[in-house]
Amino acid sequence: VSAADEVTVIRAGKLVDVVTGTVLKDQTIVITGERITSVGPSASAQLPAGARVIDLSAQTVLPGLIDAHTHLTADPYLSGYNALGVSDTRAALYGVRTARKTLEAGFTTVRNVGAGGFGDVALRDAINEGDFIGPRMRTAGYAIGIKGGHCDENLLPPDVNFTGRGVADGPWEARAKVREMAKYGADVIKICASGGVLSKGDEPGAQQYTLEEMQAIVSEAHKLGRKVAAHAHGASAIHDAIVAGVDSIEHASLIDDAGIKLAREHGTYLVMDIYDDDFILQEGAKAGMLPESIEKEKKVGQLQRDNFRKAFQGGAKMAFGTDAGVYPHGDNARQFYYMVKYGMTSMQAIQAATINAADLLGWKDRVGSISVGKYADIIAVKGNAADDATELTKVSFVMKGGAVIRQ
Ligand code: ARG
Repeated sequence: VSAADEVTVIRAGKLVDVVTGTVLKDQTIVITGERITSVGPSASAQLPAGARVIDLSAQTVLPGLIDAHTHLTADPYLSGYNALGVSDTRAALYGVRTARKTLEAGFTTVRNVGAGGFGDVALRDAINEGDFIGPRMRTAGYAIGIKGGHCDENLLPPDVNFTGRGVADGPWEARAKVREMAKYGADVIKICASGGVLSKGDEPGAQQYTLEEMQAIVSEAHKLGRKVAAHAHGASAIHDAIVAGVDSIEHASLIDDAGIKLAREHGTYLVMDIYDDDFILQEGAKAGMLPESIEKEKKVGQLQRDNFRKAFQGGAKMAFGTDAGVYPHGDNARQFYYMVKYGMTSMQAIQAATINAADLLGWKDRVGSISVGKYADIIAVKGNAADDATELTKVSFVMKGGAVIRQ
């Protein structure tokens, strides 16, 4: 943690300006305490006396990356039945390590969209209080969904009579569940609008919450100042979630033309986790994912990538989110390869992971670009990331709030 009045100067050989989508040469960033206090051409920059100087003149400097869809408390190698023996406390402690890994990989902010036992809230608060290092976090607590749906736990027999704590059926129960999550520290409300891949006995294409339930959830959440992120693979779930007014659609695998148009008209962000397919198909069985999950992935994985291209070209807003926890934490930047392969320029992919994600998180005032007044969350890579976003898998420098995390 840097002292409140400590001054640091970063010499940036190339600086990615995500606001204008351009690369600026030979820039100097001045950081006072946690915040950026000036940025501009090195030629005209005044060096404050006694400042610590960090020389990144041979590197490309970018704002810290943002992953809008993580599960820091989830271990990908403990999937399916393997996960049943993990307590919420153990999962939260696992999150201590994944928080560090995620930050060291250049992700200085994450939106964590679902955790048991409010482990994400505990991580967020412990990081903010300096107990250990990790990214800035937006948290959801439990993901909310229907009984037997993607956000319930369906692996146990009826004798055990177990229902996940995020389960809420009917508009008023769902409203009450939103209030409960907000009470215990949710910054954002996560719901399951459709079935999923990694859940037992449901279908990604099938809708779960009704329009009426989602309207209740969204009005309650917005009234309490929380945005809503809706897990939705299937077209009808996507449609109803957007009409209900959710702020983002997660996965969006089977989005159709009408859904793309609706997302564009409503300004709903799409957060499409198009790297996961690789890990699920290569490692999933070993990790404990159910055979039915692998089969479901084979049906949606490629469609999701094709629909990513369609949705982006169709003008839908996109924010970077990966579902980290389905695959190993710290590999988040591997998704850039697919975002470029399926239609974005490297600059557009970087914008999805910075300025757009900051907007989705409601944190455009504090993160997402290297701008005066924002937190000094800054990363660097040796290669030219603006022309090749896959360079972001090799981050060489990470600063969070003026404190150097990795150099
Ligand atoms: N959590 C998501 C689900 O179980 C993961 C989907 C991963 N697959 C994909 N193609 N993105 O539904």
